[in-house]
Amino acid sequence: MTQVHFARASSSYPKNKIRRHTFVIGIFDSGVGGMTVAKAVEQLLPEKRLVYFGDLARTPYGSKSPETICKYARQITEFLLNRGAKIIVIACNSAASVASDLLAAEFPVPVFEVITPAIEKALAVTASNRIGVIGTRATIKSNIYEAKIRQARRDAVVISQPCPLLVPLVEEGWLDKRETKMILRRYLHPLKHKGVDTLVLGCTHYPLLKHLISPRIGNQVNVIDSSTAVADMVKKYLQNHPEMDKALSNGGENLYYVSDVTDAARATAQRIFGRNLDLIQVDVEGN
Ligand code: DGL
Repeated sequence: MTQVHFARASSSYPKNKIRRHTFVIGIFDSGVGGMTVAKAVEQLLPEKRLVYFGDLARTPYGSKSPETICKYARQITEFLLNRGAKIIVIACNSAASVASDLLAAEFPVPVFEVITPAIEKALAVTASNRIGVIGTRATIKSNIYEAKIRQARRDAVVISQPCPLLVPLVEEGWLDKRETKMILRRYLHPLKHKGVDTLVLGCTHYPLLKHLISPRIGNQVNVIDSSTAVADMVKKYLQNHPEMDKALSNGGENLYYVSDVTDAARATAQRIFGRNLDLIQVDVEGN
């Protein structure tokens, strides 16, 4: 177990918001896409307090090396633990695909990630065992979905498709544009052609495109949203671990930290939550 160091906070860090003995669920992502997970956790566990960190200064993770992603994931986890996190949720498929084992081994708290619950959900609903996975290049290249699905079900057929253009389209707010529909059709074509009956949205941004994905892959295909799947898993964990449930603080404000604040991020956060979020800028580098 590594020692937990204090993160260096930027001058804009609101010190009055740090309270001792506040124990929270810590959630992180490379940017604001992971807020789809934070929102799902908020809805499922409204009484619990969350601290979110979005690494907007260093996003995207999907095109970075595993070594770099692991370094960032460690820094962020240390930051969240110092903000009272008792549970860590990796709300980023790219980070989860390369850093979840490492974080679980190095930090003394339960670590949840978006991949395992999405796979469980996919395996529970597929009838044909033909499962499609879409994600960033880092996630698809890591082969984690295919390896874990085939470990759980040897005869499953997994068809994976990297979709690098989708994150920028979501961040631009192009959620209903003709160009987005065309690109989606192109990405989904091989999965449709190979007859998948279940499609895992293996990226935190993709739930925002679900309304376009479902009709294009086929409305009969089960579309698995990892944000709700991981929220369900955390809820179940708390039901089975009353000591942790009790240890977490109830009520109070959820805090949303980011390493940079941009207009696009504000707009995406607003789109996800349907309300304006107070984004607090903080620097977690140099731990
Ligand atoms: N959050 C990332 C993921 O779920 C997408 C954005 C990025 O590439 O950083 O894979």
